[in-house]
Amino acid sequence: MLRLPTHTRLFVNDLHKVRLVPDKLPSTRMTMTINTITRAISDPSADGIARGIGALVTDESLPAGTRLPTVRELADALDVSPTTVGDAWQILRRHRIIDTEGRRGSFVREISMGPSVRYWQVPATGGAIEIDLGSGVPDARLLPNPLKSLQSLAGTPAVASYLEAPVLPELEDILTRRWPFEPERLTVLNGAMDALDRLIQATVNIGDKVGISDPGFPPLFDMLDLAGAESIPLPLDAEGLEPNAVEGGVASGMSVLIVQPRAHNPTGISMTASRRDELAAILAKAPITILEDDHSGLVSNAELFSLGEVIPSQVVHVHSFSKSHGPDFRIAAVGGAAEPISAVERRRMLGPSWTSRLLQEILATMLRSKPIEASVEQAARTYARRRADLVGELATHGIEVAGEHGLNIWIPVSDEATAVPMLSAHGIGVARGRPFRLIPADTHFIRVTTSALDSNIQEIAIRLAEAAEGGLGVPEQNGGQR
Ligand SMILES: Cc1ncc(COP(=O)(O)O)c(C=O)c1O
Repeated sequence: MLRLPTHTRLFVNDLHKVRLVPDKLPSTRMTMTINTITRAISDPSADGIARGIGALVTDESLPAGTRLPTVRELADALDVSPTTVGDAWQILRRHRIIDTEGRRGSFVREISMGPSVRYWQVPATGGAIEIDLGSGVPDARLLPNPLKSLQSLAGTPAVASYLEAPVLPELEDILTRRWPFEPERLTVLNGAMDALDRLIQATVNIGDKVGISDPGFPPLFDMLDLAGAESIPLPLDAEGLEPNAVEGGVASGMSVLIVQPRAHNPTGISMTASRRDELAAILAKAPITILEDDHSGLVSNAELFSLGEVIPSQVVHVHSFSKSHGPDFRIAAVGGAAEPISAVERRRMLGPSWTSRLLQEILATMLRSKPIEASVEQAARTYARRRADLVGELATHGIEVAGEHGLNIWIPVSDEATAVPMLSAHGIGVARGRPFRLIPADTHFIRVTTSALDSNIQEIAIRLAEAAEGGLGVPEQNGGQR
């Protein structure tokens, strides 16, 4: 007896010929997948199809492992040519969103959360660390004590309600008055990283081009990878992001730009007023959303020149209070362009909905306090002095570093794999440069946090200079960094 596979149908053309053809009817599950995809696609070009599917993968409507329809099935469903779907499949493969496994078909890829994630490589220290210059954190001794503010909270804090406004009105008032430009919307989230994570989810679809400084902050690179973005590395010079590189990003279709306006981590570079104007003129030419990460805020010791002062409708400015008032507050204010902020707020309503109003109340009390304001200003000056002291000492050893602000310096070394263990053998922990690079480069660096450096500076500079040389020759002067 002739056994037929279940997925084939028997066509009897005439009494003599029997023809087997593959079943053209998709299974119920595949029909659901096709419906999900067709509903998500408003632009039936190859790019539009890839974006639509990318968005479905991002929000897990198409989870990892989902089998995708064949090119012909989707082309029929969307009423486009198979070549268009074939091109969309190619885009999705290029962005490592799908895999095609020969005759088995195409599948949504698993996004790797493995050890290659850069953030977990920072700081890379070993041995017994007595002097930790690797962690990028503020000096606990320079943070204001919140106890007095806690004690002076007026009345009974509103801890009983799900229904109050997400931002405490008095905090909103203080923040709006301090904002570098008039924000269309303003909210409070749980620190700059929470804000950027949510803003990236709200503004970046798989395959989107996102400009970001290289070197830059490792968790941001990771977030962009996980969002499926195509990250565009943008070099810095002494005044901020290089205009030519930003112009190139705009020309290539960049849709989001992430900027650290001052005290750039890891280099300490701050954007000047003229660079702000130059970049704003370039960015105004395209519908680009700019996410501005003012992570060191009030202790940057640098004037803030925000792109939002020139092109406010394109900018979401994030101001963190972690470095000035304490990372444990987990509070950042987020203000600027209404649409991305509203999208974040709408999505967050399904989860935590707001940032503890008790914490907001303590922060508002601290921001109103003149003595605390003075102590934060004093902390900013202290950080600036500590950084400048080490930079000055390094200069006496022939080591020049870029940037003038913030808690970190970015030191060129001949070989970071040698420099880090050399320092750790002396009890000094630093972070190696590699995770701070978007694109691995031949040049080597270490990142040194100067926030708590109030003694032994000469000795530490000697150790850093030895490690920079690594016994392998003279360190490159600033390498790929300008
Ligand atoms: C560039 C950058 N963004 C964000 C953050 C973290 O900010 P927050 O503590 O507000 O999440 C840091 C902390 O060092 C940083 O360097």
